[in-house]
Amino acid sequence: MTGTLIGRTLGQYEIRQELGRGGMATVYKAYQPSLGRYVAIKVLPPYHAEAETFIARFDREARAVARLEHPHILPIYDFGREGDLSYIVTKYVEGGTLKDYLGQPFDLQRATSIVSQVASALDYAHDQGIIHRDVKPSNVLLDHGEWALLTDFGLAKMAGVSARITGSGVGIGTPAYMSPEQGQGLEVDRRSDVYSLGVILYEMLTGRTPYEADSPLSVMVQHITKPLPSPREANPAIPVAVERVIIKALVKDPAYRYARAGDLAVALQDAVSKSKEASQAKASPSAETVTKATTPSSTREQTRKTPPSRPVEPTKTPPGGKRIAAAVITGIVILALVAAACVTIWTLARPKPATPAPTFTVAQALTATAQTTGAVTTPSPVATAEATATALVAITETPTATPTTAPPTDTPTPTVTPSPTAMPTPVSPAEPAAGTIKVFGGTEMVYVPSGKFTMGSDSGDPDESPVHTVYLDGFWIDRTEVTNAAFQKCVEAGACSRPINSSNTRDNYYNNPTFADYPVIYMNHYDAEGYCRWVGKRLPSEAEWEKAARGTDGRAWPWGDTFDAGKLGIGRGEDTARAGSNPAGASPYGALDMAGNVLEWVADWYAPDYYAQSPERNPQGPATGVDNVLRGGRWWDAEYDLRTTRRWHLGSNTRTAYLGFRCARDR
Ligand SMILES: Nc1ncnc2c1ncn2[C@@H]1O[C@H](COP(=O)(O)OP(=O)(O)O)[C@@H](O)[C@H]1O
Ligand SMILES: [Mg+2]
Repeated sequence: MTGTLIGRTLGQYEIRQELGRGGMATVYKAYQPSLGRYVAIKVLPPYHAEAETFIARFDREARAVARLEHPHILPIYDFGREGDLSYIVTKYVEGGTLKDYLGQPFDLQRATSIVSQVASALDYAHDQGIIHRDVKPSNVLLDHGEWALLTDFGLAKMAGVSARITGSGVGIGTPAYMSPEQGQGLEVDRRSDVYSLGVILYEMLTGRTPYEADSPLSVMVQHITKPLPSPREANPAIPVAVERVIIKALVKDPAYRYARAGDLAVALQDAVSKSKEASQAKASPSAETVTKATTPSSTREQTRKTPPSRPVEPTKTPPGGKRIAAAVITGIVILALVAAACVTIWTLARPKPATPAPTFTVAQALTATAQTTGAVTTPSPVATAEATATALVAITETPTATPTTAPPTDTPTPTVTPSPTAMPTPVSPAEPAAGTIKVFGGTEMVYVPSGKFTMGSDSGDPDESPVHTVYLDGFWIDRTEVTNAAFQKCVEAGACSRPINSSNTRDNYYNNPTFADYPVIYMNHYDAEGYCRWVGKRLPSEAEWEKAARGTDGRAWPWGDTFDAGKLGIGRGEDTARAGSNPAGASPYGALDMAGNVLEWVADWYAPDYYAQSPERNPQGPATGVDNVLRGGRWWDAEYDLRTTRRWHLGSNTRTAYLGFRCARDR
C-alpha cells in the first residue's frame, strides 16, 4: 500500500521517490514547494495510528525530539497526520547511511571519528532526558560519507510499539544492536544507547555484529546471556587497548559499562592514539604504554556539569545472584511477548546462515565476570575490579599542562603591515592599528582594535539572532589556524598530546613535513585550550572570533557581502589546505581561513538563545553548558555554512578530522 504514496501529497509535501523501508515505516524523498527544497518524509503505517493514545504519545514525543538541535542530529522540520497516516519530515541527506559502508573492517580513525560524532549527539540528547532506543547503522546518515547525522530519536517510543506489547515502557530497538536490559524489557537509560553504540563499534572494526542467528528472539537471548565473542579473534588487527574499550561498552550489566557515550568516545580515542604510539615506537613493543590524556586543567572546567575526564566507573559490588535470576526470568517472559513484534522490526535478518561465533577467550574473562548472566557465568569481584581498572587506564591519566620547555618567544618589535582592506575605525594613539601583524609565540597575529561591532544575523539559523551590538576590548588573534608545526613544539615540550597522524584522505599528516604548515586537526576543546595556554595565549571568545572575521560592517563573509568561492582557502574539497593559502579571502583585519578549511574551537559554551541575554561588553558566553562553540565552517561547506555568523557546537571532547583552532591574546 505504501507504494501508492508516490505522486501523492501529504500536508504540503509532494512525495516523489522511495528512499528506503525499515521495520516500522517507509521513508520517501519529497518536495516542499513553499521552500523549494527536497526533504525526507517518514510515513508510519496506518496500524500504528489507530488509537487516541497513539496520537497523544506521537505528538508529545515528536515535540520533544524536534527540540533537539545538534550538529550530529538530523533536524526534524515538521510532523503531522493525514487520515490515518502519521509522518515526520526531516532534512534530506544524500550519501547513504553507515549501514551502506559496513561489511568489512573500518580504518580505526574513521571508526573513532564516527563513534565520537554519534557519542556527542547521544550525550546531548541524554542530558535532556531523551534516550534514542534504536541506535544502529541505518540510523546514522553520512553526509559526504563523513559527517554523521543520527536520526530516529525515540521513534520506537513515538510509534508506541512498546506499549502495544507490554503495556509498559519497554522500548523495542533492532535486536542486533539492542542492549540486554532493553531486550529483557527492563527500564532503559542512556547506558542502553551506549551499548548499541558499542555494537556499532564492534561491527565497524570486525565487519560483523557480535550476535547473529536465524531469529530475532535468539539474537536477543544471546545479547542477554552469551559472552561476547572476541573482537580480536574476528579481526586480529584490532589493538588490545581498543578491544578493551569495545568490551567495556558491551558489558551486559549497565553498571559496568561506560556511563556516558562521551566516555566511550574518549576511551576509544585514547586507546587508538596509545596503540598508534606503541606501533610507531617499535623499540617499545608493549601496548600497555599509557598515552597522556589531553585534559589540561582550567578554572573554567570547575563549572562544567560533567567533568571531561574522570574515572569511568565507581567501584561497585557485583550484582547479587537474586537480582540476576529475577532479571533473566523477567527477560525471558518478556522476550516471548515481544517475539512477534520483533519480526516486524527485524531489519537485519540475514539471508545467509549464521556464522558460528568465535569461541570465548581468556581476554573476555574480564567481561564475563561483569555480566548479569548468572546462568552462564558467576560474578567475581576480583576480575570485575580488574576489568574496571584496565578500562580506567585508558582515560584517567591526566598530564600536567605545565610547559617543560619554554614556548617560542615573541618578536621584540612589531611588524606593521597594512591589511588588505584596513578598517577605517578611528584608533586611539596608544593602540596598534587595525590589521597590525606581530609575532607572538612563534606565529603571526593580527590586531583587532577596541570598539563596537555588529554580531549575529537575522537571516541565518535562529541561534544567530537577534543581531546585536557588542563592544570588545582590543585583542590579537592568530592570522591562521594553528599548524601542525606550531603544535608539534608543544608536543615536543611534553605539554600537548600528539594528535592522530591521519587526515580525512591522508594516512600520514601530522608527522609529515609536507603538511607542516597545514592546520593541526583532531583537536578537542581541551587540546585547543591547552595549546593556547602553553604558548601564552588563550582561545578567542565567540564574539572576538566573529569580529575578527567580519569587522564592523556586519558583512556575511570575511571579504564582503557577496559569496565568492574563489576567496576560500578551500572550498568543496576533500581535505585540509595549507593554513592561510588564499590571502584573497582575508578578513578586514587580515585574518585568513575564517571561512572553510577547519572548524575552529572558541572559548565559549554554546547556548542557542545566548544572544538575547548576552552582555554588551566583552561577552564570554554562558557560565556553563554541554557543548562548546566552533566557528568558520569546514572544507566542504557551502556558502550558508561559511558565513561569519554561523554557529556550530560540539561536545568538548570531540576530536575529528575537521576540528582545529586558532588562539587569541589580550592587547
Ligand atoms: N533523511 C533521510 N535522507 C535520506 N535517506 C534517508 C533519510 N532517512 C532515512 N533514509 C533512508 O531510508 C531508509 C529507511 O529508514 P527507516 O524507515 O528509518 O528504517 P531503518 O532505519 O531501519 O533502515 C534508511 O535506511 C535510509 O537509507
Ligand atoms: Mg531509521
